[in-house]
Amino acid sequence: MKHFLTLADFTKDQILEMIDLAIKIKEQTKSSDLVPYMQNKTLGMIFEKSSTRTRVSFEVGIYQLGGVGLFLSSNDLQIGRGEPIKDTARVISSMVDMVMIRTYEQEKLEEFATFSKVPVVNGLTDSYHPVQLMTDYLTMIEFGKDKDPVVAYVGDGNNMAHSWLMLASKLGFELRVATPKGYECDSKIVSQALEFAKSSGSKITLCNDPKEAVTGADVVTTDTWVSMGQEDEKEKRVKDFEGYIVDKSLISLAKDNVIFLHCLPAYRGYEVSEEVFDEYADVIFTEAENRLHAQKGIMVWLDNKRGEFEQN
Ligand code: CP
Ligand code: NVA
Repeated sequence: MKHFLTLADFTKDQILEMIDLAIKIKEQTKSSDLVPYMQNKTLGMIFEKSSTRTRVSFEVGIYQLGGVGLFLSSNDLQIGRGEPIKDTARVISSMVDMVMIRTYEQEKLEEFATFSKVPVVNGLTDSYHPVQLMTDYLTMIEFGKDKDPVVAYVGDGNNMAHSWLMLASKLGFELRVATPKGYECDSKIVSQALEFAKSSGSKITLCNDPKEAVTGADVVTTDTWVSMGQEDEKEKRVKDFEGYIVDKSLISLAKDNVIFLHCLPAYRGYEVSEEVFDEYADVIFTEAENRLHAQKGIMVWLDNKRGEFEQN
C-alpha cells in the first residue's frame, strides 16, 4: 500500500507525476465542474487540529472527482475518548477508499497507515505538511519559478520548513532556511534532506540570518511563528523571532521578480508585514486555491497506483 505521509517516501518522478496530474485535472475542471476520476469513492477526513483550507479543499476536491468526503472531527470520534489508533484505522479503512489525517505526532499518522487497508494522506502533522508543498510547487510552476529556483524560507524550523527541505532535496533546487537560534529544523530531517540532496544536486543552506537567505532569491516564503499546539509559547516566540519578519526591506534583497508564498493562515505584523502580504496577495491566494488542484492530483495518483503497489 502506498501512502502519502512525507515527500521522503517519493522519487522526483513520482512527485512530478502527481503535479502533472494536478495540472491536467485543474485544466479539465475549468470546462466541467466534475472530473470523475474517483467516481463513488469515499474519503474519510480525520481532523485533530483546526483547518480552513485543508478541510474545504479535500471535501470539495473529492466531490469534484465524483466521490464524497466525510468530515470526522476527533472531538466527535471515539478516538477522542481513547479508542486506540489501530482500531480506528481498521474500522474506518474497512468502509472508505482513502483517509486524510491532520494530527500532532507523525508517528500517530504512521501507526494509522500501518493498520489501514486504504491509502492514507498526511493533512499536516507537527513534522510535515507535504500536501501544502505539492501545492506550493504547483504555484511556483504557474508563476514561472520552477527552473532552477533559489527558495528562501525565513522563520520557524517547523513542519513547513521540514517539508521545504524534502521538496527541494528531492527535486534538486536550492533552498536556504533562516531560523532564529533555538528554532532550527529537526537535525534528523536535515540529515535526510542532505542525503537526498547528494543525488538530486540540491544546494541546502541552513543559517540564522534572514538577509543571507533572501539575497538573490526567486521565491521567499515563511510561516506562522506559533503553530497549532504552541499557543502557550506565543509570548516567548514573538520575542525570539524579532527580526525575522518578511517586510519590504528584507524582500527587497531578493531578485526583482521574486514571488512570496505563504501557506496561510498569515499573521500580519509578525512573520509577514501587511505591505508584503498585500503586494503578493495574488500569488498567495492562487496558492490557497491550488490546494484543491494539487490534492486532486495526489488522490487520483494514489488511487490509480493502488493495485500496482498492492502487488509489490
Ligand atoms: N495551509 C493550511 O493547511 O491551512 P489550514 O490550516 O486552514 O488547513
Ligand atoms: N506551521 C503551521 C502550519 C499551518 C498550516 C501549523 O502547524 O500550525
